[in-house]
Amino acid sequence: MLQTVFRAALQAPSGKNKQPWRWVVVSGDRRKDMVRLMRDSLAKLKAQGVSTGSAEWSVKIMEQAPVTVFVFNAHGLSPWQPHSAEQLIDAVVDVQSIGAAIQNLLLAAEDQGLGSLWICDVFYAYQALCAWLGQPGQMVAAVSLGYADEAPAARPRKPVSELVRWL
Ligand SMILES: Cc1cc2nc3c(=O)[nH]c(=O)nc-3n(C[C@H](O)[C@H](O)[C@H](O)COP(=O)(O)O)c2cc1C
Repeated sequence: MLQTVFRAALQAPSGKNKQPWRWVVVSGDRRKDMVRLMRDSLAKLKAQGVSTGSAEWSVKIMEQAPVTVFVFNAHGLSPWQPHSAEQLIDAVVDVQSIGAAIQNLLLAAEDQGLGSLWICDVFYAYQALCAWLGQPGQMVAAVSLGYADEAPAARPRKPVSELVRWL
């Protein structure tokens, strides 16, 4: 199933066909290290008074899901590194390509009967996760995959009239 899901992700369009995405699959016992790293980083931030929003929820899903896929931009710099305008533009282009690939992955997962959660709360543990994953480039997101144990109501969307300006 994951091969099918990745094949769909890799069909996404990308700026200059750079295919900047890289994927690291965490499953089995390695999930325990991932969850511990997330929880340790969140505890440190909380001790410093930093609000971590929905992150506890995201970690719970990462703990329960059998698979979490980390998505990297192969050409991206650490967000804490200074970026020139050119580097920032490259990063904006690459992250659009990666967003398209993640969306393909989610749709293919849905097609396979899998539930998914797109997770950017991994940024609360950016350094710790990158060091542990040992993947060069910039971590962009994670996606947890598994059989869903809930079917929440569709979340609302703003209307076209509020978001689209016609010249
Ligand atoms: C870039 C991105 C990052 C997200 N990060 C998280 C996250 O860290 N934790 C979480 O629970 N949901 C996360 N989500 C899911 C959104 O909260 C969700 O897509 C949004 O509330 C709309 O709900 P729907 O996708 O069910 O329509 C993320 C979604 C996107 C696109």
